[in-house]
Amino acid sequence: MTLHELQQACAALRDEAPARIAAADSLDAWHELRNTLLGRKSGRLTELMALLPQLAKEERREAGAAVNALKQTLEAAFDARKGELEATASRGPTLDLTMPSRASWRGAVHPVSLVIDEIGDIFRELGFTVALGPEAESPWYNFTALNFPDNHPAMDMHDTLYLKDGGVLRTHTSPVQVRTLQSYAPPVRILAPGNVYRRDFFDATHAPAFAQLEGLAIDEGITFADLKATLAHFARAFYGQRTPTRLVPSYFPFTEPSGQMEVFFDVGDGRGARWIEIMGCGLVHPAVLESAGLDSERYSGWAFGMGPARIAMSRFSITDIRLFYDSDVRFLEQFA
Ligand code: DAH
Repeated sequence: MTLHELQQACAALRDEAPARIAAADSLDAWHELRNTLLGRKSGRLTELMALLPQLAKEERREAGAAVNALKQTLEAAFDARKGELEATASRGPTLDLTMPSRASWRGAVHPVSLVIDEIGDIFRELGFTVALGPEAESPWYNFTALNFPDNHPAMDMHDTLYLKDGGVLRTHTSPVQVRTLQSYAPPVRILAPGNVYRRDFFDATHAPAFAQLEGLAIDEGITFADLKATLAHFARAFYGQRTPTRLVPSYFPFTEPSGQMEVFFDVGDGRGARWIEIMGCGLVHPAVLESAGLDSERYSGWAFGMGPARIAMSRFSITDIRLFYDSDVRFLEQFA
């Protein structure tokens, strides 16, 4: 080792050190680097010092001064960097308060689902449970078992999509009545929500795919009085205890007698309170019970079917059913 070589080694260390010190971006990295360069046992500078005795006596003084100067330079650089790192650490993570915030979106239950849930709550207290059936249905469940005679004009309102395998997209939730009665022995009290399909134009009051809510109660000795009392109780629980209700005669192949329940209610469209139809209902036709394999002499019961979208429209003063299908958050947020 010559004096010249030692001076070159010092110069190399002086040149590379500043960038490495600046690159130490945490106190841990700083300690590690300081140990590498200035560590007492095996630091780079200590190694240079250990070389001094190899030099000729008259060169040692000059070399020692150079190594010492470098040591002071490096220590000063390390101290300065430590100060910076400690200052950043005490400030915590950097916050850019000018950054625009992210919009946070809170979802909400769809108004039609809100109505289904609320009606479900009312009937659950009366002992009803939820039953489901398939949307791709056989014509037997959708029509025959429900006492639609072949080619009966009542089927005109139930035109739908016909599937390749001979099935249909169900036009109402009433097939769930028969499916449930085939699987469970009376007493049966069920509520069957689900989507149904019809050949309808998509306008302010019709949709070709919409939700229905079916109700069914079957046991021994059930009469029209049970239907009337239960449905009137429901209408008052839903629309308000003072809401007048009435039953008006109607026709469905699967009920006899058939009716529709109406409530006297202001839907908020500016026309004031009037009678609003909220569901079709009736005593289950004996032919339906027999289709499901029940003895119609022993069992009787009642059923209803309603459209939760229509109910939601009257509930929330909505005049166009298509709003339910638009997925427009400005509409949906109002129900959050
Ligand atoms: N299924 C009928 C329809 O879609 C609605 C209905 C009426 C269901 C009377 C019933 C009922 O259970 O008793 O038009």
